[in-house]
Amino acid sequence: MRQFPAFFNLEGARIAVFGGGEEAARKLRLFAGSGADVALIGGFADAALAAEFAWTETFARADVGAALLGARLAIIAEEDVALRAAALDEVRARGIPVNVVDQPEDCDFTVPSILDRGEIVAAIGTGGASPVIAKSIRAKLEALLPQRIGDLAGLARSLRGFVVDAIPDKTARRRYWERALSGPAAEAAYAGDLDRAETLLRQQARLAGRARGVVHIVGAGPGDPELLTLKALRLIQEADVVYYDRLVSGDILSLIRRDAARVPVGKSKGDHSVPQAEIQARLVASAREGLRVVRLKGGDPFIFGRGGEELEAVRAEGIEAYVVPGISSALGCAASAGIPLTHRDHAQTLTFVTGHAKEGGVPDLDWDALARPAQTVVVFMGVDTAPAIAEKLVAAGRDGKTPVAVIENGTRADELRVFGTLAELPFLVEEEGILGPALLIIGEVAGLPAEQGRIASILSEASGQPWFGAASHPLKIEESAA
Ligand SMILES: C[S@@+](CC[C@H](N)C(=O)[O-])C[C@H]1O[C@@H](n2cnc3c(N)ncnc32)[C@H](O)[C@@H]1O
Repeated sequence: MRQFPAFFNLEGARIAVFGGGEEAARKLRLFAGSGADVALIGGFADAALAAEFAWTETFARADVGAALLGARLAIIAEEDVALRAAALDEVRARGIPVNVVDQPEDCDFTVPSILDRGEIVAAIGTGGASPVIAKSIRAKLEALLPQRIGDLAGLARSLRGFVVDAIPDKTARRRYWERALSGPAAEAAYAGDLDRAETLLRQQARLAGRARGVVHIVGAGPGDPELLTLKALRLIQEADVVYYDRLVSGDILSLIRRDAARVPVGKSKGDHSVPQAEIQARLVASAREGLRVVRLKGGDPFIFGRGGEELEAVRAEGIEAYVVPGISSALGCAASAGIPLTHRDHAQTLTFVTGHAKEGGVPDLDWDALARPAQTVVVFMGVDTAPAIAEKLVAAGRDGKTPVAVIENGTRADELRVFGTLAELPFLVEEEGILGPALLIIGEVAGLPAEQGRIASILSEASGQPWFGAASHPLKIEESAA
């Protein structure tokens, strides 16, 4: 950039224009009605031009000193070389920024191509290189900008004080202007109805002033975006900021509004990239800015998700907070694998447990209760501790032949299901290189898909149709030789 664009205030400012011909007239027209106090040094011999510019204060060239008193800018449009040089000497002697028409080497500033919409002014400069290019750019801008955009800007200026009082918070105020000036109030102004535009701007400011931030703790489900609830989808698309966990799938993150902020606060085993207290503090801070905050968590927020802690922390600060349930990975994985978690013939009790103690290792669970027959045990975060879990259950009396299923990345494109028995569990995890996220489903119901598969394959052999044609993504399904 060789030239710095700046906008001078004209209201009451003294502007000196030298000359008395067409060029001087062109420059004077730029200042007509601007509120500037224009001194014309020279004057028009042409009667029509003299009448057009009767609003200027005209000075004889001999009175140049009085004309330039307090001048903010000067424009020299003298066609006569000697007069031009004399005018330049006078202006330079007073250090007034000057433009000399068609003499770029003598100019302190150039006069750009100007698009004038009242309060909105666009200036296109080419540094004197090509005024024609500047004019063509201005023509394009003219087509783009609504004719009454200046009226809208004028209205915004007149309401500034009102809006500051209505919305004291600076960030909330910025957001109000961003929305208000592209919404129905703007449409009303462009249609020429400034009264309605003003009413709408005032109403919206009062509402925005009362609005406070809100936090929604939203369950994102196990990964498949089609398993989001309608409410979760709406909130994700309305959010100003989304704090999300590592377990939230990329497909779901792609549903977030493009102009919303996305903040990963994910944790993986042993790696608490953002400590829990800080996540909570960030939720509170964003809500205090008046933002619509979504805290997006894998599965259901209230099932091994620390959603309870976050809800408590946010509400303790007096901030509105709501929870939107999600499909827990236990339900998603079971459905995907065709494992009914309860079954009248096989499981009358269903228990969700964590396989990972707060301080690491296997948690201190009631193994006798978990070993009772006719129940399904779903273990979250149990990949690392699978051998110890199998050992404790068998030691407590659960049959080593009890069916188990290990489901990794359930409902996602890379879902992997492995079937076997409780005694085989450590090898299943090890041999398949299961890293997680994965669930262990332990109980007779985990044997049902294999049973269904056997029946279906007999049927498909008879009918010639593949039994597993309904899978929407490639699956690796393993059944161990029990
Ligand atoms: C911190 S817990 C969160 C559970 C989550 N709130 C829920 O309701 O599914 C994380 C554990 O959930 C399980 N998990 C989450 N998503 C999974 C998925 N898509 N497939 C298998 N297991 C999953 C794994 O056991 C993982 O270690």
